[in-house]
Amino acid sequence: MDNVIEVLLRRRSHRAFSERQIPAEDLTLLKQATLRAPTAGNMMFYSVIEVTDKDLKEQLAVLCDNQPMIAKAPLVWLFLSDVRKWVDYYHMSGSVAKGLAQGISWRAPGAGDLLLAMSDALIAAQNAVVAAESLGIGSCYIGDILENHERIVQLFNLPPYTAVATLVIFGYPKSQEPLAKESLRCPSQAIFMENQYHVARLEELQQAYAAQEERLREQRRLPFDNTGTIADFYYFRKHESEFMEEMNRSAQALIDSWLAQ
Ligand SMILES: Cc1cc2nc3c(=O)[nH]c(=O)nc-3n(C[C@H](O)[C@H](O)[C@H](O)COP(=O)(O)O)c2cc1C
Repeated sequence: MDNVIEVLLRRRSHRAFSERQIPAEDLTLLKQATLRAPTAGNMMFYSVIEVTDKDLKEQLAVLCDNQPMIAKAPLVWLFLSDVRKWVDYYHMSGSVAKGLAQGISWRAPGAGDLLLAMSDALIAAQNAVVAAESLGIGSCYIGDILENHERIVQLFNLPPYTAVATLVIFGYPKSQEPLAKESLRCPSQAIFMENQYHVARLEELQQAYAAQEERLREQRRLPFDNTGTIADFYYFRKHESEFMEEMNRSAQALIDSWLAQ
């Protein structure tokens, strides 16, 4: 089996890290692997802020729906969509002025630029996650970084045409013990489609998530005294949660502020 495939198949999220710091040479490798990620037009529409300041890390942990592991992680990378550097480069190097002289007016970055830059940043983040795993370094994405848009912008001094894409925390796993049970996934036929979108019927959805539902039932985590379904579990715990309400408000503010510039 290809080594990369082995790494991909064994990767899982880690949330408890040992005190051990990541050595400089591994950090360099991690950065090199991140930089090799494919990027739209080879323009690298992303930046990564390494959060080393203890106070900043603690504030992040609170702002990301109170996840203290963020403050404890030896390495914290904030991945940003970054079109700002090209906006500046176009202006500062005179490209915009040359355009104006030819009758081409300045076009502010729009939704397409934001989505391309998001793609760049997320692809780079996943390169980092896979590279870390191959070095024995665990990682976890923190989706809750999409909450509290205004506070995060303030905390990291984010200028217009930059936007948070994701946060990833890294560190050596506290326990080297393999998990008793790996996280489950839907079978491939529930995910891969051919040529056209297939709207799943109820039975297909039930089948797709049957193993996960069974696991939750074994763990007695399903709602309605463990008689509920996996749909009930995610509907009440996630879809209708306060944190998703805040994430949607915050993400809308991010998009609005990008498009309003
Ligand atoms: C976009 C995204 C956001 C995530 N946000 C969080 C988070 O805020 N906190 C957390 O503990 N795990 C987070 N995770 C990790 C997922 O919970 C984890 O990937 C999932 O449960 C599958 O487990 P595995 O990665 O161990 O296979 C996130 C993962 C992704 C891809």
